[in-house]
Amino acid sequence: MHVIVLYPYNISIRTRPGALLMDAIVEAGIPINAVCGGKGECGKCRVYVRKDIPEDVLTSLLSGDHEGVEFDLACQTTVDSDLEVFIPPGSVTERMKVLTQCQEQKLDCLEPLVGKYHLILPPPTLADNVSDIERIRRELQGQDLSRIEFPFSKMTYLGRDLRDANWNVTVSLSRRQDGYEIMDVEPGDTTGKLLGLAVDLGTTTIAAELVDLVTCRVVGRAADYNKQMIHGEDVLSRIDHCRNPERLGLMQELAVGTVNSLIDAIGCPPEDIRSVVVAGNTVMTHLFYGVHPRFIKLEPYVPVTGEMPIRYAVEVGLKVNELALLHSLPSRAGYVGGDITADILTTRMYQKEEVSIMIDVGTNGEVVVGNRDWLVGCACSAGPAFEGGEVESGMRATTGAIERINMDDAGRCEFKTIEDVPPVGICGSGLIDLLAEMFTHNIIDRKGNLQVEVSPDRIREGEDGREYVVVERDRTGDHRDITITEVDIQSILRSKAAVYAATALLLRTVGMDWNDMKRIYIAGGFGNYLDIRKAILLGLLPDISVDRFVFIGNGSLSGARTVLLSDGMRQLAHEVYKRLTYVELSVSRDFFDEFSSAMFIPHTDLEQFPSVKKMVNVARGMSASDQA
Ligand code: FES
Repeated sequence: MHVIVLYPYNISIRTRPGALLMDAIVEAGIPINAVCGGKGECGKCRVYVRKDIPEDVLTSLLSGDHEGVEFDLACQTTVDSDLEVFIPPGSVTERMKVLTQCQEQKLDCLEPLVGKYHLILPPPTLADNVSDIERIRRELQGQDLSRIEFPFSKMTYLGRDLRDANWNVTVSLSRRQDGYEIMDVEPGDTTGKLLGLAVDLGTTTIAAELVDLVTCRVVGRAADYNKQMIHGEDVLSRIDHCRNPERLGLMQELAVGTVNSLIDAIGCPPEDIRSVVVAGNTVMTHLFYGVHPRFIKLEPYVPVTGEMPIRYAVEVGLKVNELALLHSLPSRAGYVGGDITADILTTRMYQKEEVSIMIDVGTNGEVVVGNRDWLVGCACSAGPAFEGGEVESGMRATTGAIERINMDDAGRCEFKTIEDVPPVGICGSGLIDLLAEMFTHNIIDRKGNLQVEVSPDRIREGEDGREYVVVERDRTGDHRDITITEVDIQSILRSKAAVYAATALLLRTVGMDWNDMKRIYIAGGFGNYLDIRKAILLGLLPDISVDRFVFIGNGSLSGARTVLLSDGMRQLAHEVYKRLTYVELSVSRDFFDEFSSAMFIPHTDLEQFPSVKKMVNVARGMSASDQA
C-alpha cells in the first residue's frame, strides 16, 4: 500500500499500487471536480503531485501562489509510490448556491400521501371479540377508510402494544393505488407530528425538503452535489459509467447516499419520515430506482418506463421509516422527465386558458408549451457551458464564482461573486452577463469574434487562441487571470442557440409565435440569477416585454412537495404526464437550420430582436430615419 498526503486538508490515506489518484481523493471524501467523468478532457481535476513537495513550494501553494506551477490531472495519474498531493481550490466543488427557493402552491386539496388517525378503541369483550386488527379496521372504516392492509411485520407485538396503550392509539396509514396500508400503531395521540420528504433529484445537485404534513410547512431544507458527479457531469456520462450491473448498483448507491446525507444534515430521525416523493429527469429517476437507463442514450431514446411503481423507500436504500412509500413524478420521454412534470404542476399552465411556455435551462434544455387543453414538449442538449463546463474559467455556482458582471466604458469589469469573495471563475449567469456586456461594448461581434482593435490591452493570444482578460490575477482568488477565449464564447453561443432553436421550433410546430405566449416561465438551473435583459440581448430569450417572464425557482422541488402534500396532485401529475405530447425536434433538419441562425448574437434575423436591432443600429451610428 502507498501513503498519500492530501494538502491543504492534511489528510493521509493508504491506497493500493496502481490505483487512480482521482479514486483515492474521492475515497478520502474530498469532492474533486470531475466535469468529464475522468476522461481527461475537461482539465478541472488539476492537482500538484510529487513524492515530496519541498516545504517552500508547499508554503507558496498554500498561500495561493500557483504561478508557474505545472499541474497534473488526478483522473490520469496512477499511484505508484508514496505521494504528496496539493489540490488547488478550483479543483474541488465548493459549497454551492443551490436553488431551493420554490413557489408555495395553493393546494385545492390537502390530503398527504400518508395520514395519521387517533383512535380510542373499545376494549374487546366476550360479546365483542373480533381480532385486534379487525378492531382497528372497523374503527377506520367508520372514518370512511376502506381496503386497509395490515403488514405482517407490524403484527408481532400489536396485541401487547394496544393493551399497554389502554386502546388509545394513533394509526399511521399510507395511501396505495387501491387502498391503504397501516405503517404503525403508536400509543396516545401523535397526530400533531407527521413528516415527509420531497426531493429534487438533479444531475448536478440534489435538494431535499422536510415537510410537516400536518401544518404543510417546510421544516428543514438541505442540498448538495449529487455524489454521482465523480462519474461525469451529464446524464450521458452517467449512462456510460454504469455499463455493467455492479456499476449500476454503485450509481444507485451514490444518488440514494446523497439523499441520505441530506436527511442527516437536516437532522431528522429517519423513522419519522413516512413518505418520500422524488422528481428527477428520466435518467436520474432510472438510476435512483436501480433501473438501467442504457437505451435512453440510443435512438429513438426510449426509457424503460415513464412511471416507476410505488415502492418502499427502504428498498432503494433510503434511510427513512421502513414502511414509508417512495413515489416519483412520471417522465414523459427519455429527455423530458419527472422534473418537467413537476415544473408543469408548479406553473399551473395545465389549468389555464391562456397559452404559456415553460423553459427549463440546464445541461439539457426542456421546453413545454400549452394550456389546459393541450401540452406539447421537447428537449435539446444545451451542453455544459451554462453549468461552467467547456469554458476555461467556467465554474458552477459555488463560492467565488462571478454571477453578475457589468462593464464600464473603459471595458473594466465590475462583478459580484457568490459569497463576495475574490473571484476564481464565472458561473452560467455571469457568462451570459459577460457576453452581453462584451457585445454591448463591441468587444465581440455578432459571431462572437473578439475585436482586438476595440480592446487591445485586454485581448491577447493564449494557449487556446485569442482570449480576453476578464479579471487580472491581482484581483482573483487563485492569482490566475480569469479569461474567456473565442473557443469558450462559441461553446456558450452553442448552448444558447440550442435552447432558442428548440423553443422557436416548438412554437412553429404548434403554429404559434412568442406573441401568443401570455407567460414565459423560466425554471431551474440558473433561472433565478439570470438577468433577463442580458439574456435577451444575447439571444437566449425572446425579445418581448420583461414583465411576461416569470421565474418559478426550483419547480422540480416544489412539484415534488405538492405531490407529497396532496394525493389529488399525485393523480394530476399522472394526468399531465398522459396529456403531454412529446416531439423529437433535435434530429430534424429544421432544428439545425434554427440552431445555425441562433448561433449569432442575438440571431441572424435581427427582426426577431427589435430592441437589440435598435441598439446595434445606434452603435453603427444610424439615425432613426436610417433604421426606418
Ligand atoms: Fe480529469 Fe476531466 S480531466 S475529470
